[in-house]
Amino acid sequence: MANQEELFKQVISHAKEYGYIFQSSEIYDGLSAVYDYAQNGVELKKNIREYWWKAMVQMHENIVGIDAAIFMHPTTWKASGHVDAFNDPLIDNKDSKKRYRADVLVEDYVAKIEDKIEKEVAKAAKRFGESFDREQFVTTNAWVIEYKEKADTILKRLAKSLENEDLADVKALIEELEIVCPISGSKNWTEVKQFNLMFGTKLGATADTAMDLYLRPETAQGIFVNFSNVQKTGRMKIPFGIAQTGKAFRNEIVARQFIFRMREFEQMEMQFFIKPGTQQEWYDYWKETRLNWHLSLGLGKENYRFHDHEKLAHYADAACDIEFKFPFGFKELEGIHSRTDFDLSNHEKYSGKKLQYFDPDENKSYVPYVLETSVGLDRLFLAVFSNALQEETLEGGETRTVLRLPFVLAPTKVAILPLLKKDGLPEIAREIFDDLKYDFNVAYDEKDAVGRRYRRQDAAGTPFCVTVDHQTKEDNTVTIRHRDTMEQMRVKIDELRDIIFKEVDMNQWLRKLN
Ligand code: GAP
Repeated sequence: MANQEELFKQVISHAKEYGYIFQSSEIYDGLSAVYDYAQNGVELKKNIREYWWKAMVQMHENIVGIDAAIFMHPTTWKASGHVDAFNDPLIDNKDSKKRYRADVLVEDYVAKIEDKIEKEVAKAAKRFGESFDREQFVTTNAWVIEYKEKADTILKRLAKSLENEDLADVKALIEELEIVCPISGSKNWTEVKQFNLMFGTKLGATADTAMDLYLRPETAQGIFVNFSNVQKTGRMKIPFGIAQTGKAFRNEIVARQFIFRMREFEQMEMQFFIKPGTQQEWYDYWKETRLNWHLSLGLGKENYRFHDHEKLAHYADAACDIEFKFPFGFKELEGIHSRTDFDLSNHEKYSGKKLQYFDPDENKSYVPYVLETSVGLDRLFLAVFSNALQEETLEGGETRTVLRLPFVLAPTKVAILPLLKKDGLPEIAREIFDDLKYDFNVAYDEKDAVGRRYRRQDAAGTPFCVTVDHQTKEDNTVTIRHRDTMEQMRVKIDELRDIIFKEVDMNQWLRKLN
C-alpha cells in the first residue's frame, strides 16, 4: 500500500500523463506554483465551474452573476484592507536559506499531533470492532485528551499572537516547540516578518504617468464595488446574492502541494447581502447548503469536515472552512465568512458614494451585511481528481487504474471503439460518433486491442465505452461498458443517447440537491 506521499506523486504524474494538468512553461523548466490545464483538465474544470454556477445562480431566484475585471482601481485594495492587512508571517531558516510561513510551521506541528490522535482512534476502533463509539473514545481516552489539549493550547496561542501582531511570540512559539527546518534540520531561524501577498503591476505607457495597480487577490471586491449597480439594475431585494468565478493572484510564500496552493488560481465566490442582525441565521444556512452541494458529488461524507476559524480575517465576525481530506490530510477547500458590513462601509468611506439599500419593509436605508461563500476551483479539481484515482485489483489478480470521476464532471462521457479497423466497423463507429457529438464530448479510438483501449478510457475517467463489432452490422446493436462496474450490455444504437444521458445529465444531478 502506497503511503500518502507516494499516492500524491501518483496523482500528479497521472494528471500529466492523461492530459489534465501540465506545469506552466515546462519547456523552460516551469514556473514555481503555476500550472496549465490541459485538454482533459480544461473540460473537468469547466464542468466543475458549471456545476457550481447552476447550483448557485440558476437555481436561486435571488442570486445573479457578474464577471468583473481583474484590474481594479487601486483604492479598492486600501478600502478592502488588503494593502495593510493581507500579510503572511514569514520566517527564514539561516542554514537552508528556505523561507516558510511561520504560522504553517506551527500548524504542521499541530497536524502531527492530530495524526497521533487519529492513530489512537484507529487502534481503538480495531480493538473494539463494531461496538466502537468514536465520540465516547475521544472524550474519555487520557492520551487523546492530552494530545487535544496540547493542540488547542498551541493553536490558541498562535491565533492570539497573530491577532495582536506579536510576531516575536510566534517566533518564541516555534522555538519552544523545537520546530526544525525540514531541509537543514536546524533551529537557526530569523525573526518573523510580515509579507504582503498582492502582486503589483503598472497601468500606463510612461514611467512617470503610470499608475500602480494590483492583480486582484480575491474576486469578492469586484462584487462589492458593483453592489449598487446590480441591486438597482436588477431591482434586487434583500436578501440577495451576487456570484462570480474568476482568476485571483497571490504571491504565496510557500506555494506547494501541486494545485492546492498556487500563485495564480481561480475562485468561485458568492456574496449574499442581508439585513444586519440576520447573519447567524444565514451563516448556518450557507454552511449547510454548501456542504450539501459538495456531498452531492459523491466523494464520501467522511472526507469532509468543518473547521471554525480561531483567527478571524480582518473583515469577518465568524468564519469556518469546509475541509476536505486531500492526499496530504484534511485541508481547507471552501471558506464561509460572515463579513459584516466591513467591505461596503469601507468602500463608502473611500469612494464617497453611498452603498446602501432602502428596505421598504423597515422604511429605512442601511449598509447590508454580507455572508460569503468562497471556494477555490483548483482545490475542488484536486479534491475530485485525487479522490477519483484508484488502483484496483481485479479477479485473476490483474490490476487496473481507474479514474472514478463523478460522471457529471467527466471530461469525455463516452468513447466509441470499433472492435477492428476493418470490415466496415470504423465507418459505423464514426456514424455513432457524429450522432452523439451534439450531446456529449465523445472520443473515438481504434488503436490497439480493445482491452487496452478500455484501460485507457478507465484511466482517463470516461464513464462509458461503446464497442462496435460484427453483430452490429447484423442487428444495429453495440455493447456499452460501464467504467466502474465494467459490466457490458448489448443495446440498440438508437438507445445509446438516452442511456448515457440518464447518467451524466447535470440537471438530474442538481435535482438531487433539493
Ligand atoms: N474572498 C474570501 C477569500 O478569498 P480565502 O479563504 O482567502 O477567502 C477562498 O480563499 C478559497 O480560495 C480557499 O478556500 C481556497 O479554496 C482558494 N484559495 C485561496 N488561496 C489559494 C491558492 N493560493 N491557491 C489555490 N486556491 C486558493
